[in-house]
Amino acid sequence: MEKKLRSQQWFGKKGKDGFIYRAWMKNQGIPDDEFRGKPVIGICNTWSELTPCNAHFRELAESVKRGILQAGGLPVEFPVMSLGETLIKPTAMLYRNLVSMDVEESIRANPIDGVVLMCGCDKTTPSLVMGACSVNIPAIVVSGGAMLTGKYEGRDIGTSDIWRFSENVRSGIMTEEELNLAEAGMCRSRGHCAVMGTASSMACMVESLGLSLPENAAIPAADSNRKVLAQFSGRRIVEMVKEDLKPSDILTREAFENAIKINAVIGGSTNFVIHLLAIAGRVGVDLHISDFDRYSRNLPLLANLQPSGEYFMEDLYYSGGLPAVMKEIETRLNTGCIAVNGRTIGENLHKAKVLNRKVIATLEDPFKLDSGVAVLKGNLCEGGIIKPSAADPRLMQHTGKAVVFENIEDYKIRIDDPELDIDENSIMVLKNVGPKGYPGMPEVGNMGLPKKLLDKGVTDMIRISDGRMSGTGFGTVVLHISPEAAENGTIALVKDGDLIALDVPNRTLNLLVDDEELSKRRAALVKQPEVFKRGYAKLYVQHVEQANLGADFDFLKGSSGSEVLRDSH
Ligand code: FES
Repeated sequence: MEKKLRSQQWFGKKGKDGFIYRAWMKNQGIPDDEFRGKPVIGICNTWSELTPCNAHFRELAESVKRGILQAGGLPVEFPVMSLGETLIKPTAMLYRNLVSMDVEESIRANPIDGVVLMCGCDKTTPSLVMGACSVNIPAIVVSGGAMLTGKYEGRDIGTSDIWRFSENVRSGIMTEEELNLAEAGMCRSRGHCAVMGTASSMACMVESLGLSLPENAAIPAADSNRKVLAQFSGRRIVEMVKEDLKPSDILTREAFENAIKINAVIGGSTNFVIHLLAIAGRVGVDLHISDFDRYSRNLPLLANLQPSGEYFMEDLYYSGGLPAVMKEIETRLNTGCIAVNGRTIGENLHKAKVLNRKVIATLEDPFKLDSGVAVLKGNLCEGGIIKPSAADPRLMQHTGKAVVFENIEDYKIRIDDPELDIDENSIMVLKNVGPKGYPGMPEVGNMGLPKKLLDKGVTDMIRISDGRMSGTGFGTVVLHISPEAAENGTIALVKDGDLIALDVPNRTLNLLVDDEELSKRRAALVKQPEVFKRGYAKLYVQHVEQANLGADFDFLKGSSGSEVLRDSH
């Protein structure tokens, strides 16, 4: 027997209540029969001109609508707060949890039977998925797709080049005029960043979890197949409502393991760790930071994509897309997991094949041996992460003297001071950029090197912080140190000149200072005054968890379901 549609708790009512629920909707020109038992499909749209990566979403939503109508559903589009990575201050991550609340409450409060999540720029994916999971009605993700590859002076460029350009300008290799030309060629079409940064990693994450149709991750925003996929997704969500296929049916522990393995072989973003942990928390899957190391160890890097490699997202699509990558590691995946199309991951891979070996390598002859994220432990952290594929192999085991910056402003003031006591063997330590300390954990962990070392030709150094790094960033960068400095983690105790030992093969990160001295320093820590006295930032600082737990709010973990018990009419 088919389950009664949730939307009928509104539109199926008689008398005054039903009148009110339907009558105002009819001002949009919707005929009465649309309210009499059709699945109502919400299109949760993060369109905004302030989120350029999602600026094409109104048009894309039209394709979703067409699919919903074809399958006999009633589409209703609604906005939620949109997080554009490039403009939002102080950092979009501060608002990820807020958006997840917006999404959760918007879905639950409205007469919606299923929802299409329109995701693009980095945080718009995890926030929508987190919110939808906490309601747990049928949901499907439609990603916006990556931009076409950027062009500058006849060569391909992408977001990762910004860091190189910036260092080149600082060291005088590039002029401001040349930088302007590169700026004009960087973002030459609709879509999100064209490298395997966080947005692309998130699009791959939803596809590997089974939350989107196959091929969703890599179709470029400008390719007409993106609209076709949106239309198919619109058709499919109507069927999912009839089948009552919910996120909790798809997001099993095995699905999360698949996502970790796939993120490893594609060289996905370090931000993947924090967002996947938060999503697992919403669906009650017991995922631990150590699982990221466990499931990505022994998997090599297969995708030759920037920032770890050479190519761009459109190259991935025309080489077979994410299914082709997944096919290469099919024997390592939990192929029995169900995806939104109702088929298993294994069934979805039947026709997948690699079309270009320069972009997608084989397990036997991989692009690089190192992949994924290494999770570090030691007296400096309970959890810290590094992306070995984007780091300098020579620095994987290294002991050096700490050069400490108390916060990002301190770093900006002193980094180019010729008197700064630093050389290429030093280890740069940045404090107070964690979830509570900044607050919001900005992407500043891959701090630029001192100009005097750039001038000497130094291109990489170990950098350690309690912050994050852009998914497009690279370097020997240890991130997400937990507990963070603002929680009196050991990172708060590091002083200039202390020796720090990084040992990635053995997964350790230690401050070589004896326990007695550390106890003294801990006792001398001064409690920081409360900076945020009101508003969302106060709520955030009070309730955000540490990075190794996913930086969700403590009170948002889990699901409240879709029931609304009270009704004010
Ligand atoms: Fe939106 Fe990179 S700025 S994805």
